[in-house]
Amino acid sequence: MRKQIAAANWKMNLTYQQGEKLLDEILKAKTPLDFHQHVIFAVPFPYLIMANSEVANESNYSVAAQNCHHKKSGAFTGEVAPEMLYSIGIKYCIIGHSERREYFNETNAQLAEKIDLLLGQGIQPIFCCGEPLSIREAGSQNSYVETQLAESLFHLQPEQAEKLIIAYEPIWAIGTGKTASAEQAQEMHAHIRAVLKEKFGNDIADSISILYGGSVKGANAREIFNGEDVDGGLVGGASLVKEEFIAIMEALK
Ligand code: 13P
Repeated sequence: MRKQIAAANWKMNLTYQQGEKLLDEILKAKTPLDFHQHVIFAVPFPYLIMANSEVANESNYSVAAQNCHHKKSGAFTGEVAPEMLYSIGIKYCIIGHSERREYFNETNAQLAEKIDLLLGQGIQPIFCCGEPLSIREAGSQNSYVETQLAESLFHLQPEQAEKLIIAYEPIWAIGTGKTASAEQAQEMHAHIRAVLKEKFGNDIADSISILYGGSVKGANAREIFNGEDVDGGLVGGASLVKEEFIAIMEALK
């Protein structure tokens, strides 16, 4: 079975102490997880080492960075390179979040560079895609997302693509309390998988976890994750609340 993943994206929230306490409490809850169920905490850069040591003895838990730079190293003040993440033992990195695309003008081409550097370090990219409301209202979400995938991922070899995790996050559902319906999520996830099949073949596409993100909560997670091509969630606001995030973990297939 494909890996089913509950990924917490803390974004720019929580102090170090609050983050450490939240991780402690979630781990102490000892939520039963099968071998194919995985939990990833995407925490702010200064908390990565702490978070990694919290999960060090846990086989179902990992830590992700929320971003990385698209160049290998050099004079890029304030940026963090994939090689630096590797050097502190980080295994996953979110890239292309809509907030980075919107507020930091990240382009599909830059994301392709990030993916190459991450894969070169053996770090699995969690690649975010998703359409704004205007595109959804115009009914052109499928081709919009397909372009995001094509411009950032289609240069990869199938054995590289196998390392990807995709997160479909419709921008109109992020932080708005308005989720895509379970049908809308499944429909887009099936489309993404079909695009991946066409490019990388059935076996690779069937092995890639595709997460849904956008106002996932304890109360709606099970219904959304029920979709055949929905392999868990990338969770913002609800990942900051212990009970909510545990309920989301419990909703994994
Ligand atoms: P919310 O869960 O707060 O809508 O955020 C979703 C998201 O952007 C996760 O990356």
